[in-house]
Amino acid sequence: LSVTFRETGEKKDPLFNYLRDQLKLLYNITVVKVVAEKDADLVFLTEKISSAGKPAYKLEVSSKGISIISNTEEGAFYALQTLLQLFPTDQRSSRIIPYVEIFDYARFDYRGMHLDVARHFSPVSFVKRYIDYLAYHKFNYFHWHLTEDQGWRIEIKKYPKLTETGAWRNGTITGRYPGLGNDNIKHGGFYTQEEVKEIVKYAADRYITVIPEIEMPGHSSAAIAAYPFLSCFPEEPTKIPATMISNNSSLQQAGGQKKLVQETWGIFEDVFCAGKEETFSFLQDVMDEVLTLFPSKYIHVGGDECPKENWKRCPNCQARMKKIKLKDEHELQSYFIQRMEKYLNKKGRTLIGWDEILEGGLAPNAIVMSWRGEEGGIAAAKDNHQVIMTPGSHVYLDHAQSENEDSVTIGGYTSVEKIYGYEPIPAVLNDQQAKLVLGAQGNVWTEYMKTHRKVEYMIFPRMSALSEVLWSPKEKRDWPGFEKRLVPHFKRYDLWKANYSKAYFDLKATVLPTENFDGVLWKLETKLPQAEIKYITHAAGRPYELRFTEGTTYTTPIEVKSSQIVAAISMVNGKPVSNPVHHTILYNKATGKKITLLKEPAKNYPGDGAFTLVNGIQNTMGRVRSKEFLGFSGTDCEALIDLGSDQLFSSVTVHSFRQAAAWIFPPQSMEVFVSANGAEFISMGLTNEFTESKNLTGKGSMTVSFKTVPVRYVKVVIKNRGVIPPGNPGEGNKTWLFVDEIEVN
Ligand code: ACM
Ligand code: ZN
Repeated sequence: LSVTFRETGEKKDPLFNYLRDQLKLLYNITVVKVVAEKDADLVFLTEKISSAGKPAYKLEVSSKGISIISNTEEGAFYALQTLLQLFPTDQRSSRIIPYVEIFDYARFDYRGMHLDVARHFSPVSFVKRYIDYLAYHKFNYFHWHLTEDQGWRIEIKKYPKLTETGAWRNGTITGRYPGLGNDNIKHGGFYTQEEVKEIVKYAADRYITVIPEIEMPGHSSAAIAAYPFLSCFPEEPTKIPATMISNNSSLQQAGGQKKLVQETWGIFEDVFCAGKEETFSFLQDVMDEVLTLFPSKYIHVGGDECPKENWKRCPNCQARMKKIKLKDEHELQSYFIQRMEKYLNKKGRTLIGWDEILEGGLAPNAIVMSWRGEEGGIAAAKDNHQVIMTPGSHVYLDHAQSENEDSVTIGGYTSVEKIYGYEPIPAVLNDQQAKLVLGAQGNVWTEYMKTHRKVEYMIFPRMSALSEVLWSPKEKRDWPGFEKRLVPHFKRYDLWKANYSKAYFDLKATVLPTENFDGVLWKLETKLPQAEIKYITHAAGRPYELRFTEGTTYTTPIEVKSSQIVAAISMVNGKPVSNPVHHTILYNKATGKKITLLKEPAKNYPGDGAFTLVNGIQNTMGRVRSKEFLGFSGTDCEALIDLGSDQLFSSVTVHSFRQAAAWIFPPQSMEVFVSANGAEFISMGLTNEFTESKNLTGKGSMTVSFKTVPVRYVKVVIKNRGVIPPGNPGEGNKTWLFVDEIEVN
């Protein structure tokens, strides 16, 4: 392929080198530079383009060859990415690319991906690969999470112990937190300043800005292990549960080394002291070196999850609060961040922090990264601050992307479809405030990603979906269209030799009411047209084995009319191509019956509609999974069930959930009414008693028992507790009421 640049005086080497290296790497095509346009297959031109000041390009492929017109080099780089996507997805195909005429630029100015290299260290080679993935998807910011409780990863010449000591931990917990034990394997690593420069340049050559994150005042155990004076209490040993501490660490602590790099996950009370001047001199010195390495206008200082326990009992912190008349420790955190902001602003940089920096007063020029939902971002935009959206609900790529995930992940479930449907601009913002939303970012926390293969498995294909959310106009977003492009895109991951999740091909199982409300249907769908679905059914409560080879071939939805375990798998040529899915359907007199909600649930917890309460499926995961629950924020749940004919029954049970940390409380009360005609109801009793399940934390139920004559209609009124009581997270806010299933027996 021959390339020429119509003379414009701009330097084009990174563009040319990038194209040459990529075509060599992916297709073994040699790219050469030529002088005369008539000899060139590809011509680059620079022109003004009307694109609201954004980097933009026009890509034309025709019988005359390829031309890329752009307003900036960055625009031309995005054209190259589009051009690469026109190439075949394997190396053997003929190198035919379609004729196209494309005019394109990004919707959002901030299109970010984050990588935590602290929980598990990534070598330089993978960081570069990760940056390549960003480039392929037209992301333009790489948020590099460099410091944590479990490791400090950047060389700071003035403080060599940060990496001599802080970059290494003696072991790591095994299994999901709180963990099964310690692997006793030393883990760590760090980037020298030369390596950092190399990575920053590598990214810049791909028009990607690297934003370093230096965490403060929390998540700072590794720095404290290196320099204990940074702690409020340098003499207090690092608290690690005895069962979670590695052999070597217990020896070190017994030998008098008090502070350790953390070996388990979570939030730790030992944080930077906000009272001592030495803390700020240290952090300013660190920033001085960081700023020479990173030209980025934005510098991230963390600010999340900082417990205030130590500050409350630290004489230095308390003295500072008194001296400058701070009302509480949140204001001390705000002082901390504002002081760092002044320092960064003086050097011409802008501070980014996680949304906790709103608490106690926002630093005047700070950008808020909204991770605990969108609320922080909304509040910041209303306060005229810029915002980057990274809500855990939609763009935390450490959540599982399959409902049937069999590797350990941090929890949660976020499908590629959910990410594709994410809208970074909250509807409650007006046009002026919406402009303050710079964009969004996918976050990749690596507690449960030990290898680059696992990182790839977690990011793909969700990162591809996010790239489209951030690039394309909102009105062009089209899930069926994306699905058509996704399947060939999987082949492109193969071309890149990248690992990826095949969760998109998971079997989808749904429970539906029958037409006559006399049972439920189990419906199965696969995205693989060539797959055969095999299913088995088994009476609930007896042991069973998933022997799908003896299963039945699925053709139409299966009717379930008694308590059953149903399980299925998809196969191609007799080999499984998906994880199994299974449901336990527990029958009672209400199962599959016609149900009406007299009060609507909250928008974000609609379940599968009213039917969720009588679908025979109870929450068994012990976590807030949206499909199995209806959620009510501060309001009650009232449901009317039509049993179809007169039925004799003597109790009604409501299954609910408690998780104070998520503001979910058991019902205040549950009252049962019955009626023969559906119009006049009489109360059969009320209960306030919530009985907790022995098997599953948080799960519980309320039952009202009585004697009655046969009737057709049952009404259940489930009262929300209303307001979160004092002493609980979120006290004073509305409580959530979560209702899972209503049983009539
Ligand atoms: C965060 O996930 N703690 C920002
Ligand atoms: Zn202190």
